[in-house]
Amino acid sequence: MPASKIIGVGMYLPEEVVTNDDLTKLMDTSDQWIQERTGIKERRFFKEGVDTVSSMGAKASLMAIERAGKKPEDIDFIVFATLSADYCFPGSGALMQQHIDFKRNIGALDIRAQCAGFIYALSVADQYIKTGMYKTILVVGSEVQTNVFELSNRGRDMSVIFGDGAGAVVLEASEETGKGILTTKLHTDGRSAEELYLEHPGSRRKQRFNPTMIETGELLPHMNGKHVFINAVKYFPEVIREALADQNLKEEDISLLVPHQANARITVAVGKELNLPDEKVVSNIHKYGNTTAASIPIALCEAWQDGRVKEGDLIALAAFGSGFMWGSALIRW
Ligand code: UT7
Repeated sequence: MPASKIIGVGMYLPEEVVTNDDLTKLMDTSDQWIQERTGIKERRFFKEGVDTVSSMGAKASLMAIERAGKKPEDIDFIVFATLSADYCFPGSGALMQQHIDFKRNIGALDIRAQCAGFIYALSVADQYIKTGMYKTILVVGSEVQTNVFELSNRGRDMSVIFGDGAGAVVLEASEETGKGILTTKLHTDGRSAEELYLEHPGSRRKQRFNPTMIETGELLPHMNGKHVFINAVKYFPEVIREALADQNLKEEDISLLVPHQANARITVAVGKELNLPDEKVVSNIHKYGNTTAASIPIALCEAWQDGRVKEGDLIALAAFGSGFMWGSALIRW
């Protein structure tokens, strides 16, 4: 059975940098509160008319394709993770074909797994490669979410945390033994869905929108931050240990942990729980905030650019978020 190797990484961040101080002009918050609770110093805001989830995904993808030494026509399939697709339908994976000329009508699949989206996408792509269905797959995570939250007092609990951005990897079938994605582990607890969710425009109501929804704030996402935090700190280490046990590996075998960037306090707690020194844990949330499905590929891309990902390293990826959905991946680089 072939293994899936990551042969190229790419990222794209919109130009506009919004600092914590910028947000204090729009709501009752402070740089100190945001930094102490989350570790975030600044985030990027997309530019309307320039950046879309699919165009940002395409920019990250083109970087990954070039670094892989490939051309768009070498890609056999697209797996695209996002909670903030350009349109309600069709998905942003399909819209990628408006930005990149793949020369063929390759299939495109959108993944709805929120913060765990990139792990789920990677796992799906890995199975297609293992079965031999596809040889080269583009796996993308991209989000425009700064327009989902309200830059106001009632929206401040979430709007200070999230940012926009995109990351992508090219996965390719490899016959090299012991290299590539070793395993992925996926979990969901749908009973906790309403702890972190955005109801509208969902299909439960006869009338998807009405003017009072704006007044009542029903169009805003809801997060039970403390409950999400407690569960994240529990399930991140658990799902990483599950993947390690599957491969007869130990915590000390991890060369680098690239966790979903939800909160610097969560990242520190997970690193401590797994006895990993700080230099083995990637954290870039101070620059970009929480970019949901894009956070892992952006962090992985930066770590690779900084020379922190080397041939033969054991890289652990993990995420937890809305659903609740969580997962991990172990990669021998
Ligand atoms: O990506 C995966 C999904 N998301 C997560 O993993 C997020 C997990 N949760 C968290 O990261 C944290 O729970 C938060 C960062 C969201 C919040 O931190 P916290 O330490 O749990 O704060 P809190 O919810 O206890 O809020 C404390 C106070 C409240 O005021 P009172 O009731 O104590 O007077 C909030 O109203 O802070 C207030 N608050 C704010 N103050 C200033 C909430 N948002 C803000 C804000 N600025 N932006």
